[in-house]
Amino acid sequence: MHSYPYTITISSEKGGVGKTTLATNLAIYLKAMREDLPVTVVSFDNHFTIDKMFALTQSGTTDADVHALMMGAPAGEVVRTGQYGVSYIPSSPELSDTHERFKGPMTLTRMLAESGLSGIVIIDTRPDLNILTQNALYAADRVLIPVKDLPSLENCKNIFALFDQRGIDKKSLSLIPCLIDSRIKFEGIFKDQKTLLRAIAVNRGYRCLDTFISKSPKVESLNTNPDGKIYPILTYARGTEVHGQFMEITRDVLRSLDATTETRACLYHTWLLEKEAHKKESYLARLEGLAERCLICGALLTDKPEDRSFYFETSDRAARGFLHGDCVSDMLCSTLYGLKEDDHSFHAARKIIADKAGKAVSILAPRTTDSHSLLDYRQISMTGEQQFQKSVEMPGFEAGEFNGIQDRLYLLLNEALAGFEGKLRLGGWLAVYPVDPANPEAILHQEHYKSVQKLQRHVTESIMTT
Ligand SMILES: Nc1ncnc2c1ncn2[C@@H]1O[C@H](COP(=O)(O)OP(=O)(O)OP(=O)(O)O)[C@@H](O)[C@H]1O
Ligand SMILES: [Mg+2]
Ligand SMILES: [Zn+2]
Repeated sequence: MHSYPYTITISSEKGGVGKTTLATNLAIYLKAMREDLPVTVVSFDNHFTIDKMFALTQSGTTDADVHALMMGAPAGEVVRTGQYGVSYIPSSPELSDTHERFKGPMTLTRMLAESGLSGIVIIDTRPDLNILTQNALYAADRVLIPVKDLPSLENCKNIFALFDQRGIDKKSLSLIPCLIDSRIKFEGIFKDQKTLLRAIAVNRGYRCLDTFISKSPKVESLNTNPDGKIYPILTYARGTEVHGQFMEITRDVLRSLDATTETRACLYHTWLLEKEAHKKESYLARLEGLAERCLICGALLTDKPEDRSFYFETSDRAARGFLHGDCVSDMLCSTLYGLKEDDHSFHAARKIIADKAGKAVSILAPRTTDSHSLLDYRQISMTGEQQFQKSVEMPGFEAGEFNGIQDRLYLLLNEALAGFEGKLRLGGWLAVYPVDPANPEAILHQEHYKSVQKLQRHVTESIMTT
């Protein structure tokens, strides 16, 4: 069965509020409190804190880092087993050249969904709201936003605004007071920093964790060692308040993990798969309604499948199907130039016409009254620019007579556009699209058929009204 990670993003536009300390230590506490839970940490900043904390050996830098992941490398190739049982993805000095790939807000969610990672993924972001951070915010089942003072609290509104803009539920977002100096006391009801920050946060409608993280000289010292390592709170600062606070935060995270049946990655992936299935269904439905015969020669298309070189569709979509390349070329040759097959110039003209028809969409719009019939013939590009237009007399058409030259045209129009009692459907027209005979059905795939639908609309709205 495919597995999906539960994603936690640590984010704040303010630098130095304790994001990385929270991300890395939370990973260690999670692992310590639930041994069998896979935990993976990744950072979008270039401080290499993650690497200093988790790397097992000081092996030289390799290409298998977060940059490679962002460029599409499979997660399995970049995730490493690290210290304390925590897996990590090595940091990269520079990620800005990957931004191009993350223009869509859900790109990272998709990546995580397809990564095969399980357990918990913790993303430590840079102190900004660039496109990578945004992707990490939207991918998260939980976003923890450390705030240490009023300016950092002020800044939170940008994260909330991003969620509002995209109409995403903000229940994943919660603030956590960090670097709280418990020596600072205030007069009145907001007796200290954390109470004040929490009161303001709640007043603005932000969720706030019950826990906070104290400022501790011991914790601060874990970053600075002669050996260039960074030590975890769990093993080196057990005696501090911060240790108990991390235990509480971890319990809180585990509770929400346990309460989650479908992670964001899973939901998004399911939605993607449904969309794919829907596309496939629409494609199959499009295949269903196709004419079995070439409407010009009347032969079954299964008899000569390799010559299905054109696809036609009427303005009301009532008739659709493939046409033989030869049939269309012959029809246009006689319709546009009045040539018969035994005329000496027929073959040369036919080649030129076939060539042109193979590069443009032909629009055939009959205009008939009781006594007179004309064909408005146009060639337009796939983007709707008109390249050629000709009005062609259709003698005898309204009376149902054939004249030897335009028989093929009359057959096609009658077969495709005839309605009640054999009369043409009023205002009807048909478009003939060149297709690749090796794979004519490709035009019915969603990504191509979109252009057909667009062009049909364009012809109805702009061309047939002029
Ligand atoms: N609880 C704490 N008590 C004391 N110092 C702390 C505590 N948490 C973090 N620090 C210190 O604060 C500084 C900033 O912490 P950290 O690097 O985690 O912040 P950050 O938000 O990730 O910063 P940046 O935005 O630059 O990535 C570090 O020197 C760290 O050691
Ligand atoms: Mg950081
Ligand atoms: Zn045919």
